[in-house]
Amino acid sequence: MAEETLTIRDNRTGTEVEIPVSDGTIHATDLRQLGLMSYDPAFLNTASTRSGITYIDGDAGILRYRGYPIEQLAEHATLLETAWLLFEGELPTRDQLETWEEEVRLHTYVHTNVMQFLDGFRHDAHPMGMLLGAVAALSTFYPDAKEIGDVESRRLQRVRLIAKFPTIAAWVFRHSRGLPYVFPRNDLDYIGNFVNMTFEIGGVHEPNPVLQRALEILLVLHADHEQNASTNAVRGVGSTQVDPFSAVSAGIAALYGPLHGGANEQVLRMLDEIGDVKNVPAFIEGVKNHERLLMGFGHRIYKNYDPRAKLIKRVADDVFAQTGIDPKLEIALELERIALEDDYFVSRKLYPNVDFYSGIIYRAMGYPTDYFTVLFALGRLPGWLAQWEEMLSDSEQKIARPRQIYTGYDERDFVPIAGR
Ligand code: ACO
Repeated sequence: MAEETLTIRDNRTGTEVEIPVSDGTIHATDLRQLGLMSYDPAFLNTASTRSGITYIDGDAGILRYRGYPIEQLAEHATLLETAWLLFEGELPTRDQLETWEEEVRLHTYVHTNVMQFLDGFRHDAHPMGMLLGAVAALSTFYPDAKEIGDVESRRLQRVRLIAKFPTIAAWVFRHSRGLPYVFPRNDLDYIGNFVNMTFEIGGVHEPNPVLQRALEILLVLHADHEQNASTNAVRGVGSTQVDPFSAVSAGIAALYGPLHGGANEQVLRMLDEIGDVKNVPAFIEGVKNHERLLMGFGHRIYKNYDPRAKLIKRVADDVFAQTGIDPKLEIALELERIALEDDYFVSRKLYPNVDFYSGIIYRAMGYPTDYFTVLFALGRLPGWLAQWEEMLSDSEQKIARPRQIYTGYDERDFVPIAGR
């Protein structure tokens, strides 16, 4: 028996069992000896995995990837360096980083057929719907991606996804604007190439290094967030042993939702609707009356200021120094000021989350509102892939298949249609 244990007495039968406690958890399967299941809709108190990737202390507002504080990574690391860290567990050496960057660069092109099915989308198709479809479709171009038991194949698919995702994301942007697709350029870095593929017109794009670095910091801040809804979707779908393109498209679908990555889009829509600082108090009253949510506030894990939101506020200063202040920022600051003093928000520990300011920054950079979540997906991709790899290498994992408490009818006889 383990050193730490829990004794459970079943008052229905008087049976007592002692079950091991490790890492502050009990195994739900140990409850079987009492004929019990645990019930935890929305996983409020259930760990689905052991993970060595990301550490969050939601009360203290701490976020670390592989032990490194997010503040230090945001200051010093590139997105590809962060991706390597997430995959390999260590920061890359200079040689490793150069080889990794080169490998990604060599895989940035996608089959030209991808253009044809992007063309099939309506002009006003939501960018996330297009991204989701196009990434899932990549699985049909790489049938070898089904070999998920082969470590080298998994590594190759990871490179392909990291390399091709910006190309598809940029082409989705071009499709929405009715602009011709721009091909990847091997002389640019990862972010520079993505920005060029989105904004180049007539062969010309003047890169703004401050805005590019700001975008990169935002993406690093989004790179992983342990078992969030979209990562859980990638792991859950990936646990069926489907190829990673399909598993990642499940993550994109989950991220699309307004309670997850779609929140940054909703924040902008909310700010547009509020329209003016003078309307903020009335809006807050509506939130307190449970008529609506204050989008960009609250988090399942953070019951303190989201450390990413703090860093993003700093990025906002750099960006607005280049682009000029967005009047929506004033409304956001006022919402935050009132909310942080109001008992409704204070007592529920509701603080700004990563999405509260990211949308305003993306808009200042020239991205339309319905594109924000695509940027989130680009940032989160390394995390999804690192978690997918960890899941497949974990001997404790099996196909993810929850149980249920059945609440329907007992057996009853079929009634022919004439008798209903
Ligand atoms: N505005 C107003 N009230 C809120 C908000 C909000 N944004 N978030 C939570 N609350 C209230 C709830 O109504 C509830 O109040 P009650 O106790 O009176 O019923 C209480 O705070 C607890 O909220 P829950 O919904 O139980 O918290 P949960 O952990 O399930 O939800 C979530 C977390 C989904 C993020 C929620 O805070 C929310 O909907 N926020 C707005 C959407 C958003 O910004 N999502 C982005 C999350 S970050 C990310 O995905 C990157």
